[in-house]
Amino acid sequence: MLAALPLLLAAVIAAPPAVAATGTPAATAAAVPVTPVLTPPMGWNSWNKFGCNINEALIRETADALVANGLDRAGYQYVNLDDCWLATSRDANGDLQGDSVRFPSGIKALADYVHAKGLKIGIYESAGTATCMGAYPGSLDHEQADARQFAGWGIDLLKYDNCNSGNRPYLNRFKAMGDALKATGRPIVYMLCSWGKDAPWSTYGPASGGTSWRTTEDIGNFWSNGSQSTPMGVVDILDAQAGLEPYSGPNAWNDMDMLEVGNGGLTDTESRAHFSLWSLLNSPLILGNDLRTLDPASEAILTNPEVLAVDQDWGGSQGRRMRDLGGGLQVWAKPMSDGSVTAVLFNRSAATATITTSAAELGLGGSDAYTLRDLWAGTDSTSTGTVSASVPSHGVVMYRIHRAGTTAAARPAGTYQVSDLAWLASGNGWGPVERDRSNGEQAAGDGRALKIGSTTYAKGLGTHADSAVHLWLGGTCSQFSADVGIDSEVHANHGSVRFAAYGDGRLLGYSALKTYGPATRLTVATGGALTLELRVTDGRDGNAYDHADWANAQLTC
Ligand code: GLA
Repeated sequence: MLAALPLLLAAVIAAPPAVAATGTPAATAAAVPVTPVLTPPMGWNSWNKFGCNINEALIRETADALVANGLDRAGYQYVNLDDCWLATSRDANGDLQGDSVRFPSGIKALADYVHAKGLKIGIYESAGTATCMGAYPGSLDHEQADARQFAGWGIDLLKYDNCNSGNRPYLNRFKAMGDALKATGRPIVYMLCSWGKDAPWSTYGPASGGTSWRTTEDIGNFWSNGSQSTPMGVVDILDAQAGLEPYSGPNAWNDMDMLEVGNGGLTDTESRAHFSLWSLLNSPLILGNDLRTLDPASEAILTNPEVLAVDQDWGGSQGRRMRDLGGGLQVWAKPMSDGSVTAVLFNRSAATATITTSAAELGLGGSDAYTLRDLWAGTDSTSTGTVSASVPSHGVVMYRIHRAGTTAAARPAGTYQVSDLAWLASGNGWGPVERDRSNGEQAAGDGRALKIGSTTYAKGLGTHADSAVHLWLGGTCSQFSADVGIDSEVHANHGSVRFAAYGDGRLLGYSALKTYGPATRLTVATGGALTLELRVTDGRDGNAYDHADWANAQLTC
């Protein structure tokens, strides 16, 4: 919680959707990317499959295979060397040099080879005295020379790791390399790999010029072991993403780490789930398998154009968990820039199960007809609003859903208390969302008068994270505002949440992290949105005591 303290002092920020939303004005002001990256990077990296067992033949064969398999046409562009490409010491001039046994032709010749294939080449270093494998020189205090070296070789991407840092501050180390890369004048994509330490998304990531940042420890070649220490399972990485939505966007991608599809540790069903969720959350898609022996099932997963289109589409918010139905059944969704919504029905349980949500809950209310495209089956169907499927254990069903048919009328002009309106849909962490009462956790109406800090409110919504309330606006409302905070009914120093408002799924604005104490006013312009979603997300410390009030919640139409 200590790391979050500065956020408590920050005012509520209404973030324009296309901006890398940050919670702290300082980070936004300094955020000039090394190289603009408007869609999540796609490519291949040597680490997951090969570790230190790399050489120039492998990299050339991988580039060959990437093109031969048509992965380049699917969008995979970067061929990235990870750790262990280096000689154990710098040369007589103090410059980095490739390992002369593994890379006898040199890194420049390898870059030329990759470029001649129409691909780009990425490289790895660490913001420390040595790389993570320990034996190789790091770039700390050599940033300018090393960046010049990379540019001279024709490098197009740098993955910059965090080992052997000497505990020097993150911002100093990562910004030094960001500035050095900028100074070379070569467009080099700058991917930070500091394992989510010290919240790179809200602080030093954008301020260093980075355009993506790892959010967790390293991925492992398995489904789940319930742990957040390295190596992590696919599902455990997914669980660490909830609440990071405000920080994602063009030039600011939350990196869920490289893919394990094709490495044998996941079933095909699990691989489809892994790939679907990484795509839904706009993660960089960096292949981690042996492309020379790509099996047909993995190839079909990694090149599904309709799933790749979800990853590459910025509709104003990365995917997020819309609903945890309990028993390992979840609904995740993200808005698409054409006004459709992609939903992933995710079954983490041990048996096949039916997962059901609605178009209204997905932010697509107000109509009487929808078309559903099943992105894995390649089939189309229609619905009057129910979105439901039988989902295999450890699997997903992924739908892209368009509103069709009649759309309900606009909301008449006026100022409304949200607690007096009919809602399209609602979901809540404990009990139902309450009208003009706090959240009592169980039956409807079991709360108390709404109270944030020492102020009592007659009107508003009493929720419990994770929570969402969906409203119909009809395109004619201009503004939503509310006093937001943790209800004073919880014990002092308990509860931490973030409030966010989405219009047609796009992030309109969000609060600083709110803990026990006075309310802040959150005001957002709702533009021409048809629907509004009021969302409360757990502050990434578990949702115990997260009684969250939208007090005096008003809609102006
Ligand atoms: C760290 C990174 C990994 C990989 C290894 C290489 O653990 O997080 O992705 O680059 O270092 O040593």
